[in-house]
Amino acid sequence: MQRYTTTAIALHWLIAILIIGAFTLGLVMTDIPGFSPTKLRYYAWHKWAGVTVMALAVLRLLWRLGHRPPALTAAMPAWQRAAAHGLHHLLYVFIFAVPISGYFYTLAAGFPVVYFGLFQLPVLIAKNPALAETLKSVHYWLNMSMAALVGLHVLAALKHTIVDRDGTMRRMLPGRSH
Ligand code: HEM
Ligand code: HEM
Repeated sequence: MQRYTTTAIALHWLIAILIIGAFTLGLVMTDIPGFSPTKLRYYAWHKWAGVTVMALAVLRLLWRLGHRPPALTAAMPAWQRAAAHGLHHLLYVFIFAVPISGYFYTLAAGFPVVYFGLFQLPVLIAKNPALAETLKSVHYWLNMSMAALVGLHVLAALKHTIVDRDGTMRRMLPGRSH
């Protein structure tokens, strides 16, 4: 069974860690009452992590367009291949849609995004409170949908590892041979 390339593996896990971190921080920070310095710091970290995901997602998509993933094991039924490919495509859509919705929500709410406090990212839309309300719930629901899909994705990975023991998990883990 062949592995994904080292670049694909590194990007997969880096993006997964950042998404899980940003997701957790998103839930924690919005639960803090008032405007404490901690809350503001968490919002900043959340936005930086999210923007980093957006940038890595562009690299990942470019890499993916130039590299076919290794073939799946021949033992896998056709419906499972189709389900895996469909789910992977959807996950790619969410890796972009979630941070983009957060970015546009922030701009519509009237806040600039200053990446790592160093430079301001483009203000692509003007402040618009009505649009901000909509984008806030869009960001929320995109997140909940992505969480459900990631849950399925992880269950599938566990099923391949524990029940089928077919080496699918090793395709996405670092190792010596490809
Ligand atoms: C991987 C990317 C991201 C994930 C997983 C994520 C996840 C979340 C989650 C789970 C929440 C809490 C929603 C709620 O309980 O109401 C949230 C809120 C928020 N996100 Fe993100 N987010 C991401 C990217 C971004 C980006 C790039 C920005 C802006 C640059 C952003 C700005 C915000 C803001 C301002 C809120 C607070 C909304 C409120 O005050 O209710 N997010 N995010
Ligand atoms: C936010 C979290 C995650 C996202 C967005 C995500 C997304 C993706 C995507 C888009 C692919 C397809 C790669 C391609 O063909 O280009 C993939 C593959 C894979 N992911 Fe994840 N993933 C996440 C977390 C995880 C976790 C936690 C696990 C393990 C427990 C995992 C295990 C795998 C495996 C084994 C593959 C390779 C599947 C195959 O052989 O075709 N992923 N993931």
